[in-house]
Amino acid sequence: MRGTDGTHSSSGRRDVVGLEDIVARKGTGPPLVMVTAYDYPSATAAEAAEVDLVLVGDTAAMTMLGYPGTELVSFEEMLVLGRAVRRGLRTPVMVGDMPMGTYEASDTLAVQSAQRLVKETGCDVVKLEGAGTSVDRARAIVNAGIGVMGHLGLTPQTHTAQGGFRTQAKTAAGALRLIDDALALQAVGCFALVLEAVPASVASEVTARLSIPTIGIGAGPDCDGQVLVFNDLLDYDSAIKPRFVKHYGHIGESARRGVAAYTADVRARRYPAAEHGYDIPQADLEAFRSTL
Ligand code: KIV
Repeated sequence: MRGTDGTHSSSGRRDVVGLEDIVARKGTGPPLVMVTAYDYPSATAAEAAEVDLVLVGDTAAMTMLGYPGTELVSFEEMLVLGRAVRRGLRTPVMVGDMPMGTYEASDTLAVQSAQRLVKETGCDVVKLEGAGTSVDRARAIVNAGIGVMGHLGLTPQTHTAQGGFRTQAKTAAGALRLIDDALALQAVGCFALVLEAVPASVASEVTARLSIPTIGIGAGPDCDGQVLVFNDLLDYDSAIKPRFVKHYGHIGESARRGVAAYTADVRARRYPAAEHGYDIPQADLEAFRSTL
């Protein structure tokens, strides 16, 4: 395990982050850093950056698989992506997102799905969305010995019921309900909560009332940590830019430019050049040709 500020062992290798390290960071040290990852390259980038948590988010539905919403990704698809992420991670806590349809119907289904996610991807803990019956599901999974991260505010799996992708808890009643839901998830043993798209002042009050860390996305600076979607922070597609996103790279433009340059080079016979090929000794070449 590492210390509360992200320490390295005497070998210089970063120590593995434990759940207790995450919980111990509440109110101390720098904010927790979480990022999504969906495959081996994104996982290795997160590992190299020494983030605290990596979420194999069901946003993979859109970022990786081209679906219009998170509700469309299948469990099997998430399992494939999760396994690839596991291969690229060593130190951060790996959080497996439970896709829609894998936990809501019963406690039994929730526990079976959580166990499958852990066993088949190697994730350390799971995340599920919402309150209400999700509080019962979280309790059941925690009682089965698997750590649970909650997710309140905008919950994309049920965005239709929330009236679309909108800021949540914008009324006094909504803000009070958010606090109640957060306390309920904490009471059943969730180790942390994502707060998505809620006013900063409301997220601040929720954070102050919990003993577990809050991790915000569009929830202001007072959360105990922050999470961004890998493809958003690296700007894979500048057409989609939620207000809370900051770009730390422009991968999409760079990829489009690179593939276009390659296409132009091949068509103009500029690629491959001599230095991209392999030689055969002249004598062998002549012998080969003479037998043709
Ligand atoms: O699926 C996801 O990427 C998420 C984050 C937006 C928190 O739930």
